[in-house]
Amino acid sequence: MIRSVVRGIGSALPKRVVTNREMETMVDTSDEWIVQRTGIRQRYIAGEGETTASLGAEAAKKALEAAGITADDIDMIVCATSTPDNTFPSTAVNIQARLGMTHGFAFDVQAVCTGFVYAITTADAYIRGGLAKRVLVIGAETFSRILDWEDRTTCVLFGDGAGAIVLEASEEQGVNAVRGVLTAHLRSDGSHKDKLYVDGGPSTTGTVGHLRMEGREVFKYAVGMITDVIEQSFAASGLTAEDVDWLVPHQANRRIIDGAAKKLAIPLEKVVITVDQHGNTSAASIPLALSVAVADGRIKKGDLVLLEAMGGGFTWGAVLLRW
Ligand code: UT7
Repeated sequence: MIRSVVRGIGSALPKRVVTNREMETMVDTSDEWIVQRTGIRQRYIAGEGETTASLGAEAAKKALEAAGITADDIDMIVCATSTPDNTFPSTAVNIQARLGMTHGFAFDVQAVCTGFVYAITTADAYIRGGLAKRVLVIGAETFSRILDWEDRTTCVLFGDGAGAIVLEASEEQGVNAVRGVLTAHLRSDGSHKDKLYVDGGPSTTGTVGHLRMEGREVFKYAVGMITDVIEQSFAASGLTAEDVDWLVPHQANRRIIDGAAKKLAIPLEKVVITVDQHGNTSAASIPLALSVAVADGRIKKGDLVLLEAMGGGFTWGAVLLRW
């Protein structure tokens, strides 16, 4: 059976760190409020010349290097982002150009904070369907560029960054002992589209717009939606919460992460948490967290890793993979 196995990972962050203390100088907020309600202590904010594509390309180069291959060996790029450099062409082709790659194909997926989960699932389907052999899967965002910096209810929550993995087709036997993506479950429900959205766009206002969120409403649904798709992943794979070595959740809010882990009975020692350092980087948050936990030696070859996310749309999803 063909499986999509992770061969390398990389990440990139903007140079500038903005602490909660610095946020206090911009809007009526406090370090205490932000830490208590979200767990966030700092975030990275893109400066001049740093864009979604530049960060995505930097992460992709590191992932290629970690995999011991070059862009010549890649046949597909899928980039999850809601903050593209341009409305079109896609950020994926922008990154393709930055990698000096003129063969293969590249496209974006847009599922807001669930983007990386959608992108891995898409890449896995292309690999198992025989349409691609080696895929760069990227999550890259510059949410700082769509924030209303006068709205304290949103501007303290988000940050910029990018992460990337190389997925490669591999002939694997069996179900549970094999490496690679084991099962993926995606969901969306557009009836919630006005709870977390951007109030502009090419076809409506002709402007980029700003992020708007009914935070409490999003919070209300988050844990239930996340645990639903994770339970579906367990049912489909025959694996249980006890089998999971690492839960790598989307990093939106420490309280949502803790709530989901508790409901699933996954101990916090097995949860990778980076929201304190990165804030919510939307589609970049999972590959950024993965890359921290791989670099510090927590996630090792053969570990069962559970990815999950929920965000604007609403969209939500989970991926179970053996590293
Ligand atoms: O990644 C995509 C998914 N997005 C999310 O998962 C976000 C989900 N939502 C959340 O994480 C939380 O709802 C927030 C962190 C956004 C807000 O936390 P909350 O506990 O739901 O607070 P709240 O919205 O109920 O606001 C409580 C109070 C309000 O004051 P009043 O009305 O009680 O007087 C807000 O005005 O906190 C006030 N507040 C702030 N105070 C200081 C809101 N933002 C701030 C702020 N600093 N930055």
